[in-house]
Amino acid sequence: MLSCRICGGRLHEFIDFGQQPLSSGLLEPEYLGDEFFFRLAVGVCGDCTMVQLTEEVPRHLMFNSHYPYLSSGSSVMRGHFEETARHFLATELTGKDAFLVELGCNDGVMLRALAEAGVRHLGVEPSQSVADIARRQGIRVATEFFQESTAADIRKEEGHAQVIFAANTICHIPYLDSIFRGVDELLAPDGVFVFEDPYLADIVDLASFDQIYDEHYYFFSVSSVSAMVERFGFELVDVERLSVHGGEVRYTIARAGRRTPAPAVAELLGQERARGLSELATLQGFVARVERARDELVALLRRLRDEGRTVVGYGATAKSATVANYCGIGPDLISFISDTTPNKQGRLTPGSHIPVRSRADFENPYPDYALLFAWNHAEEIIAKEQQFRASGGKWIRYVPDVRVL
Ligand code: SAM
Ligand code: TMP
Ligand code: ZN
Repeated sequence: MLSCRICGGRLHEFIDFGQQPLSSGLLEPEYLGDEFFFRLAVGVCGDCTMVQLTEEVPRHLMFNSHYPYLSSGSSVMRGHFEETARHFLATELTGKDAFLVELGCNDGVMLRALAEAGVRHLGVEPSQSVADIARRQGIRVATEFFQESTAADIRKEEGHAQVIFAANTICHIPYLDSIFRGVDELLAPDGVFVFEDPYLADIVDLASFDQIYDEHYYFFSVSSVSAMVERFGFELVDVERLSVHGGEVRYTIARAGRRTPAPAVAELLGQERARGLSELATLQGFVARVERARDELVALLRRLRDEGRTVVGYGATAKSATVANYCGIGPDLISFISDTTPNKQGRLTPGSHIPVRSRADFENPYPDYALLFAWNHAEEIIAKEQQFRASGGKWIRYVPDVRVL
């Protein structure tokens, strides 16, 4: 029997993508030896409603000195995190010698504004490749995995934090018991722990199955997060829906009884219950849409190949690893993927071995079709690639369904 990583309850598996590689494990072309594969499957807990992977990939295989993802690669995300920093500066951090700790600060996209404002901060970021980029900008970073012991060390050296923040990081961490014990150790008595991650309701509504990959261990809902934080002596006191990364929720957690929960918490919880978000029937409906999207996408790409059209991918996202490997899309269907991340260029995508090339290659010459793997940045990308459309190029999307635009 599979059991829930949070409460030990029974886990009901509802989707299985088969053997999948490390989503950020891009390969050097001359090295095509053994690749790491694991079974990517997802289940829902019948007791606490937490949706989670059934297999855990060792963390050092994913987050290390080769981790290529750069948070500052999108101008929309830079704006989002500048606004986040301004919000904290104007609210929780107004006291004397206020201190904010960010888990998974990556290249410093959020902490930069705090460093510039001269506010005490610390990033905790295990991937040295990205931590070094933040450090070079004057941001304080500890190259560590956050966990109970790290929190205790920080508390000893620096005292309590008024805010602990994490974006697109908490859902990456299976061992949340250690994280919450660490937060308990480090957070000031009236401080807040704020984290934002992809929202299960948006994943179900958009059938965005590519949100499921090794790094995304949990798929949070208001229901599962509120049950989880209560187990650790905390309370969910606010929730805010965000449009970034295909739909997320920002959760604000405080020590139980310290703050009055905002009405939004009960509202969103009520909506989730009314639509049966965590029920197996709902999740099985999601699976049916995913299978249809896969079949339609593969049929479209095969037809375009047979007609002699050129098709490239746009954005060698971690998400694209699930799409390519689940759908069986290789270099025969997509000649290369264009991506702006220096450490992805010149490499091959994990499992599917599609070459990744620079943005310059995208227009040299423009392809007939571009499969938009970075669909969560669609507005930004389509706006800056207007010349592609003007030259007769067409975008292919597969979220929320397969369409050519
Ligand atoms: N916060 C950035 C953003 O939203 O763009 C980065 C998100 S990135 C998808 C996830 C980050 O979490 C990676 O940089 C990874 O190294 C980091 N990470 C993974 N496990 C962690 C842990 N236990 N403590 C702190 N950071 C962790
Ligand atoms: P993400 O969806 O996980 O944020 O990853 C986006 C990927 O797409 C990342 O590898 C950078 C790449 N990208 C581009 O190539 N061009 C762009 O304009 C943007 C916004 C992202
Ligand atoms: Zn559970």
